[in-house]
Amino acid sequence: MAKKIVLNNGVHMPVLGLGTWLADPFPGLTGPAVEAAVREGYRHIDCAFIYQNEEEIGEALEKLFKEGVVKREDMFITSKLWSCYHDPNDVEQACKESLERLKLDYIDLFLIHTPFGVKRGEIFPTPDTVLGYDEKKMTLTWKAMEALLPLGLVKAIGVSNFTITKLEALLPTVSVIPAVNQVESNPQLLQRKLREYCRLKSITFVGYSPLGSPGRLEKEKDDVNLLEVKVIKDIAESHGATPAQICIAFMLSLGDATIPKSTDELRIKENFAASKIQLEDHEIQRMKQLDKGYRRNTYDWLLRPKVDSVETAWDIESD
Ligand code: A2P
Repeated sequence: MAKKIVLNNGVHMPVLGLGTWLADPFPGLTGPAVEAAVREGYRHIDCAFIYQNEEEIGEALEKLFKEGVVKREDMFITSKLWSCYHDPNDVEQACKESLERLKLDYIDLFLIHTPFGVKRGEIFPTPDTVLGYDEKKMTLTWKAMEALLPLGLVKAIGVSNFTITKLEALLPTVSVIPAVNQVESNPQLLQRKLREYCRLKSITFVGYSPLGSPGRLEKEKDDVNLLEVKVIKDIAESHGATPAQICIAFMLSLGDATIPKSTDELRIKENFAASKIQLEDHEIQRMKQLDKGYRRNTYDWLLRPKVDSVETAWDIESD
């Protein structure tokens, strides 16, 4: 059983979860993946409206609960408020719709998916409908997130893709401190300052894309395939493990949570087994040297043309 972390409101979250992002282009893959994962022992599934596969996940979960493979209370399910639902009047409804798709009566953790807004109702943003980040509006969205807690719709609330600058703006306005900040993090993007900041503020850091998203490398950006990096391959060899397992074991060694995505049953098992690998201190130090602060997921499509740049939108100077 995967180790758990206690969130700032006392809710327990398994540190290793199954990511379901980018499983959506192939309907029919995510349901069986979730089923295989839960049978293997995963108890944390990371979902989102925008991944467009919550219904499949809901069906898989319903089947697993009915068959007695796992109890609802032993699962930790995350979902996320998409960026076109930042209007406070839309938050409860968006949450209820995720619940309906997931066939659940509560979500363990509900996150604001991105700090960047999109015009109300425009699910897939265009350059004309992106609204960028609005510090004041975000405080109102967060208030509406807080209102979900007493309704029993969610056990914990948090944010995703927030930088230190954005958390600094939000935190003084909140009644409930976000339980989690879920951001991209892998051996070449450790986000050390953000991790430290989150720790200081009692916000649990969850890293997505711990393998560096090997399925979507962009040649023109000189993307590195982490699974081919010599240091990682060498460490993998000495543990009789795979490079993916070493990436996951390393991310877990940092004391936070991580959610590798896979829809392949063997890789789902392989990734889960990574939590048993104990890296030596010298291996952790070698892995840390791979950090180059390279962000693959900049959400360019949510940035306002001519107004936002990757640097300003992600507070790259100040981070
Ligand atoms: P697949 O779903 O076919 O297994 P990340 O979580 O960093 O975004 O990475 C997800 C990508 O990594 C997906 O393309 C996934 O493909 C692939 N992947 C997941 N687990 C492994 C593994 N153990 N070895 C190699 N590739 C993997």
